[in-house]
Amino acid sequence: MIKTSKLYSGYGKLKVLFDVNVSIEPGKITAMVGPNGAGKTTLLNSIMGLATIYSGKILLGGIDITKMPPHKVARLGVAYIPQLFSVFSNLTVEENLRVAAYTLPEEKLRDRLELVYSMFPVLKEFSKRKAGTLSGGERRMLAISMGLVKEPKVMLLDEITTDLAPIMAKKVLEKVVELRDVLKLTIFLVEQYAVRALQIADKAYLLVSGTIRYEGEPQELLKHPEFSKLYLGVT
Ligand SMILES: Nc1ncnc2c1ncn2[C@@H]1O[C@H](COP(=O)(O)OP(=O)(O)OP(=O)(O)O)[C@@H](O)[C@H]1O
Ligand SMILES: [Mg+2]
Repeated sequence: MIKTSKLYSGYGKLKVLFDVNVSIEPGKITAMVGPNGAGKTTLLNSIMGLATIYSGKILLGGIDITKMPPHKVARLGVAYIPQLFSVFSNLTVEENLRVAAYTLPEEKLRDRLELVYSMFPVLKEFSKRKAGTLSGGERRMLAISMGLVKEPKVMLLDEITTDLAPIMAKKVLEKVVELRDVLKLTIFLVEQYAVRALQIADKAYLLVSGTIRYEGEPQELLKHPEFSKLYLGVT
């Protein structure tokens, strides 16, 4: 679905990613884990056209999207839920969803709202509440839904469980599994807290200092020496 090859990217003069080759397969959950500052968000920004690409290629379903502007990538069916995602606190849940989907015709919008509400009943229940009054987990679900109403094929999710209580994080990730299994979406899940992301992923990458250190089975990554060193403090 999305493939990067020999990607070198960053911001202006700051080089962040080095020779990154990633393949995000259709209908699967691909997880990318790695420590602070590894370049995980930069990879998502590179895909979305929000970073500087020095060399290499990014393909989306065979279409070359290297250096394509963000609105065009979005139009090709990629929804990006950024790390510091924002919901509009003083708008209601439903108003937030309507703002996110403002380009859709009313009839289509109603269909999409219905779909979102069936996937996230809690948002239906709270549709008239101001987003600012939602819990952290509910707000994450609203942010995901704001991507979902646009009818994407691929969702790029950046740290959607960070700072959530474990039980809430688990609930949010269960929803991600539903996005794959029920809606057949392609998911790229970026998480600093690795173990729980790896539990739901079909494929995993470890990114350290802008380079890929592991690609393969999520469960195998848990046993990888570099992973243990980074995450469990084992040397
Ligand atoms: N918009 C930006 N402009 C300039 N430099 C940036 C920008 N965003 C990030 N950086 C720098 O790029 C490097 C990689 O950051 P990035 O956000 O990709 O890491 P990350 O793996 O997502 O980390 P975290 O787990 O903390 O979210 C860091 O050194 C960071 O300071
Ligand atoms: Mg990040």
